[in-house]
Amino acid sequence: MNEKVLEKIFLSKNIFLLKISKSKDCKILPGQFASIKTPLKDKILRRPFTVVKDSQKKLTFLIKVVGDSTEYISNLKKGDLVDIIYPLGKGFEEKTDFKRTLFIAGGIGIAAIIPFLRGKDYSFIFGDKEGEYENVLKYFSLKALYCHEKKNKFKGFATDFINRFDFDIMIGCGPKNMLKTLKDYAQKNGKKYFAIYEEVMACGVGLCNGCSVKTQNGDYIKICKEGPILNGNLIDYE
Ligand SMILES: Cc1cc2nc3c(=O)[nH]c(=O)nc-3n(C[C@H](O)[C@H](O)[C@H](O)COP(=O)(O)OP(=O)(O)OC[C@H]3O[C@@H](n4cnc5c(N)ncnc54)[C@H](O)[C@@H]3O)c2cc1C
Ligand code: FES
Repeated sequence: MNEKVLEKIFLSKNIFLLKISKSKDCKILPGQFASIKTPLKDKILRRPFTVVKDSQKKLTFLIKVVGDSTEYISNLKKGDLVDIIYPLGKGFEEKTDFKRTLFIAGGIGIAAIIPFLRGKDYSFIFGDKEGEYENVLKYFSLKALYCHEKKNKFKGFATDFINRFDFDIMIGCGPKNMLKTLKDYAQKNGKKYFAIYEEVMACGVGLCNGCSVKTQNGDYIKICKEGPILNGNLIDYE
C-alpha cells in the first residue's frame, strides 16, 4: 500500500524522523515494524523499520542512513508516496513488570526500545558510540544512563553499566555483540532476557527464510514472523 510523507525531521547528520500517513485501522504493538520498498533497481528487497510511534492517523519512524535505501528514504519530501507494508512481526504482549525491567540500546537499536518507554518510571541504558543521538533523547524526552565509548561521564559500552541497576528482566536492542554480552550476563545472573533482533531481512512475511536465526538447540527462528523480540537466552549469537 502507499502512504504519504507528512514530515521529515533530521535530528543529526544521518538520523531522521519520518512521519507518514496511516490509512490502515490497526494498533501497532512495541516490537512491530513496517517494511518499505524503494524504487531503486539494485535494492529489490523491502527494508524493515520499527514503528516508534503509532497514532490513529500517523506512523513515526526513526531511521539511520547506512546505505542506498535509507539514503533514498532520507531524501523523500512531504507529499511523496511510500510503498509500505505494516504491521509486521510479533508485538510484545507478555505480562511484564516494566518497573523491574532494564532496557538497553546501542545506536539505532534505540528505535525499537522507544515504544516501551512510557511514563517516568523506567531504567534505560543507552550507548551512543559516535555521539549522534543526543537530539533523539531530547526529542522523545528520554531519561537514560547515557554512555559513550570515548567521552562522557559514563565512558564505555552500555553493557558495562548493568550492575548499577536492580532488575529482573532485560530488553535489549543493538549490535549482535551487545546482544551476546547481555545473554552472557542474563545466564550468569539468572535474568529473563528479551533480545530485539534486527538482522538482515528479505520478504518480511515468513516466506523465504532470509531472516532465520539459529537457536542454541540447533533450531531456526524466523525473525519476521516470530520476532523481532525473541527469548535472548535461546539465541546462538556466534
Ligand atoms: C525488524 C527490524 C527493524 C529495524 N528497525 C530499524 C529502525 O527503526 N531504524 C533504522 O534505521 N533501521 C532499522 N533496521 C535496520 C534497517 O532495516 C537497515 O538499516 C536497512 O535495511 C539498511 O538498508 P540500506 O539499503 O540503506 O543499507 P544496505 O545497503 O542494505 O546496508 C548498508 C550497511 O548496513 C548494514 N545493514 C543492513 N541491514 C542491517 C540491519 N538490519 N542491521 C544492521 N545492519 C544492517 C549492512 O551490513 C551494510 O553494512 C531494522 C531492521 C530490522 C530487521
Ligand atoms: S524475511 Fe523472509 S522469512 Fe523472514
